[in-house]
Amino acid sequence: RFEDVEFGTPIEVHIVRASYNADPFEKKVDLGVGAYRTEEGRPWVMPWVYTVRQQLAHDPTLNHEYLPFLGCERFTRCANELLLGDNSPAIQQGKVFGIQSLSGAGSVRIASEFLCKVMKYKTVFIPVETWENHYRLVTHGGFSDVREYRYWNTQTRTLDFEGLIEDLSAAPANSIVVLHPCAHNPTGCDPSHEQWDRIADIIEERRLFPFFDIAYQGLASGDIDEDAWAVRRFAERGIEFFCAQSFSKNCGLYGERTGNLAVMLNNPDKIEKVKSQFIVIARSIYCSPPSQGARIVTAMLGDPKLKEEWKTCLREMTNRIKDMRKGLKERLDALGTPGSWDHITQQVGFFSFTGLSERQVQLLREKYHVYMLSNGRANMCGLNTKNLDYTANAIHDIVTR
Ligand code: LMR
Repeated sequence: RFEDVEFGTPIEVHIVRASYNADPFEKKVDLGVGAYRTEEGRPWVMPWVYTVRQQLAHDPTLNHEYLPFLGCERFTRCANELLLGDNSPAIQQGKVFGIQSLSGAGSVRIASEFLCKVMKYKTVFIPVETWENHYRLVTHGGFSDVREYRYWNTQTRTLDFEGLIEDLSAAPANSIVVLHPCAHNPTGCDPSHEQWDRIADIIEERRLFPFFDIAYQGLASGDIDEDAWAVRRFAERGIEFFCAQSFSKNCGLYGERTGNLAVMLNNPDKIEKVKSQFIVIARSIYCSPPSQGARIVTAMLGDPKLKEEWKTCLREMTNRIKDMRKGLKERLDALGTPGSWDHITQQVGFFSFTGLSERQVQLLREKYHVYMLSNGRANMCGLNTKNLDYTANAIHDIVTR
C-alpha cells in the first residue's frame, strides 16, 4: 500500500512562496505569488472589509447552514452585474446566470467539466503564456486535447496579435478559447478594444466558444468598467460565453475562495437544464461553496457607499503598482542596465513579465534573495520604496554579469 506513489508534479508558485518564507535573510524580496502587498510588504485587509465583517458579526439573521449547491443567488446576481454592468441588456433579457464557485480556479474547473462532459467539446486553446494552473484545471476537468495559441512576442515583449489571430483562425470549429479579459497573467499585456473586436470576429466566424477568466477586474486600469470591456463587448454582440470571476485579488479575499462562473446563453429557456448539470458537477466535487466571502462581497456591492470605498481601494492599489513600475524602470535606466525596460511601465496589473531568463531568475534568488517565477514573472506588488533600490541593483548585477 502506498509503495508506488510518486511525488506529484511540483507547483512552482507554492515552492517559491515556501522558499521565500523559509529564507531568514533580512532584505529578501517576494515578487512571487500573485497577491497584493502594501508599502510595508504586508497583505492588505481593505477597510471596507472590516466594516462588513462587523456588520455580519452582529447580524442575528445569519446562520451557518449550507448554501445551495450553486451558491448564493444574491451574490451571483451582484457578481454578474459587476461583470456586465448594472444596466446590462443581456442580464435584463434573462440571458445570464451565475454559479458561485471556489474563486477563479474552482470556476474554471467546474466550467471545464461541463464543457467537456456535458457539451462534449473536445479541444481547448490556452494562450502561451498563461496562468500556470489553466492547463491543469482544464485537463482535470476532462479535456485531453489542450492546444496553445500564440500570445506573447518575446522579442518585442508585446502581444503577438498576428500570431494570436493566425492561430485562432486555424482552430477547429467548436474549440474552447481561454481568454484573459484584463491584466493578463503573466505578461501584463492586454489586447486593445479594436483587437478584442477582431478576436470576437474570429470567434464568431470560426464558431469558437470564449471562456474568459477574469481574476483582476479593477486592477488593470483601476476602473472596474474599463477592465470588463472585453466581456461586455462579447455580451453586446450576442456571443455566448463563460466567465470565471475571482474576488481574491480585487477584494483581498484570497482564503475565502470567493468566485462566480458567469454564463451567458442566448436562449434563456435552457438555463434550468444547464443549472441542473452544474448542480451534479458541484455536488460531485465540493457540494456547495463557502459562504463568508460571498456575504462580504454581496454586502459591499449592494451598498453604494461601501462600493465607492472599494473603488478607492482599487485605485490606491493600481496607483501604488504603477509607482513601483516607474520606480523600477527609472532605477534600471539610471544604472544603465543593458536592454530596454519600457515594458515594465507598459504592462498592467500585478505582473511584469521581465524578460529575465530562468538562469537570471535563479541567480537573483541565490545571490540576492529576490524571488520571482522562473519564467521571469515578477509581482510588482512585492516592491516598495524600501526595497526598490535593492531590487534594481540586484537585477542590474545579474543582467550585466
Ligand atoms: C498567481 O498567479 O501567482 C496566483 O494566482 C496564485 C496561484 O495560485 O497561482
